[in-house]
Amino acid sequence: MSADKNKKSISGFSKLTKLGKMKWLVENFFIDPENVMRELKSYWLQDDQQKVLDGFSENTISNFLLPYGVAPNFVINGKTYVVPMVTEESSVVAAASAAAKFWMTRGGFNAKVIDTQKIGQVHFLWEGASSKLFNIFPELKDRLKKDTAHITANMDKRGGGILDIELLDKTEDLSNYYQLKASFETCDSMGANFINSVLEEFGLILCDFIQEQKDFDEVEQECEVIMAILSNYTPDCLVRTWVECPVEDLGDFPNEMDARTFADRFCQAVWIATIDPYRATTHNKGIFNGIDAVVLATGNDFRAIEACGHTYASSKGQYRSLSSCKIKDGRFHFSMDLPLAVGTVGGLTKLHPIAKRSLELMGNPNAEELMGIIAATGLAQNFAALRSLVTTGIQKGHMKMHLQNILNHLEATEEEATAAMKHFHDKVVSFNNVRNLLDQLREPKSRRNLTNSN
Ligand code: HMG
Repeated sequence: MSADKNKKSISGFSKLTKLGKMKWLVENFFIDPENVMRELKSYWLQDDQQKVLDGFSENTISNFLLPYGVAPNFVINGKTYVVPMVTEESSVVAAASAAAKFWMTRGGFNAKVIDTQKIGQVHFLWEGASSKLFNIFPELKDRLKKDTAHITANMDKRGGGILDIELLDKTEDLSNYYQLKASFETCDSMGANFINSVLEEFGLILCDFIQEQKDFDEVEQECEVIMAILSNYTPDCLVRTWVECPVEDLGDFPNEMDARTFADRFCQAVWIATIDPYRATTHNKGIFNGIDAVVLATGNDFRAIEACGHTYASSKGQYRSLSSCKIKDGRFHFSMDLPLAVGTVGGLTKLHPIAKRSLELMGNPNAEELMGIIAATGLAQNFAALRSLVTTGIQKGHMKMHLQNILNHLEATEEEATAAMKHFHDKVVSFNNVRNLLDQLREPKSRRNLTNSN
């Protein structure tokens, strides 16, 4: 191990033991090493559990906690779920729960999986007349399928595997650039490892096959694979979710807003997010408040889901709302189409002890059912946020939930917290307002009486 003079960098860090890593960190980056060491260790789990968690990542020194919550009363396709959610943001779980409860008595959420195809690509360079490559492609395609049969056999047995392989000429975008674009069915797994293994094998088979072509000259027999990797953009792994009811069944809303006014304002809010990218980004962020929370709670890959969702939101040439709303024949209809490549087997889904419980809590859904649950939670989240935005404004509900965080931050005692909860029951919560109240409560009684009598 070697560390530089100011000890902010180090070589060989990964080779240190966990305690060695912690020691180096606390001694070089913290002013009270012993306390920090104790604190980091206090979040360790028991040996066997910690071993599992440490296996997920690298250079682990402790665990980072996030709240694990649940949103009850989610009726989706007639079945009632309690949805597990992992999020650090206050009011997200409350909002999802409130929307689930609202729609529970209005027919619940609907979800329909449109398709479940995943995509992978082999990006390669080849020099020659493209027609020659396309001429040999049918034979190459058979070979690619046949020579990867040892990898796909188990997936084939489950009803999945390679669906199709296309050859794409991309030479207009980059000299000599071609692509093998393959589609896959990966059943209940997200399929990343399976797809990447197949694609890397495709790369080898492709180069061998091209080299074997007797009527190709020396240059044409060369093929350079740049990379072989799945695409996280899966527009054909798509789920549709929606809620609908007669407009008058929406009921009345705060500020004496009737159902018709609410429905109109709600649809306009969705349309604004469709035409304005600044609004669309925040609108979709609200949707992902729900999506990410369930994706995390089930041990799925939230970066892949986010990246895909945002690409899909831009698929019409401009970043737009993922959800849409209409009022037709007196019915309010709020819906969303979303690509969601998730798994209920493989990855962390069964390795992470709580992810496993999340799936059990929802009755061990298969991947398609989970797609519906996640999408419905995203739509619920969007409904709750928009309902607040077009009626009371977001701060009232959000800050009501955030009050406890502010109180913790200002180190309020239990007595002060109770007084603050009572005080803010019908008042606007803001950091300053809470601080002012605590300042008042903390003033010596005599001064407070004096101030009050003035
Ligand atoms: P409320 O009407 O004050 O709630 O709403 P309530 O006290 O009448 O309770 C109704 C139900 O709400 C409860 O039913 C719960 O389901 C839920 P019950 O359990 O009593 O049978 N609920 C709670 N669940 C758990 N813990 C709680 C709790 N309180 C209520 N403490 C609420 C309060 C926060 C739900 C409402 O104001 C709301 O939905 N606000 C929206 C909040 C939101 O969207 N937060 C996300 C963060 S803001 C953001 O990042 C996104 C955004 O920018 C996106 C965008 O712009 O589109 C807004």
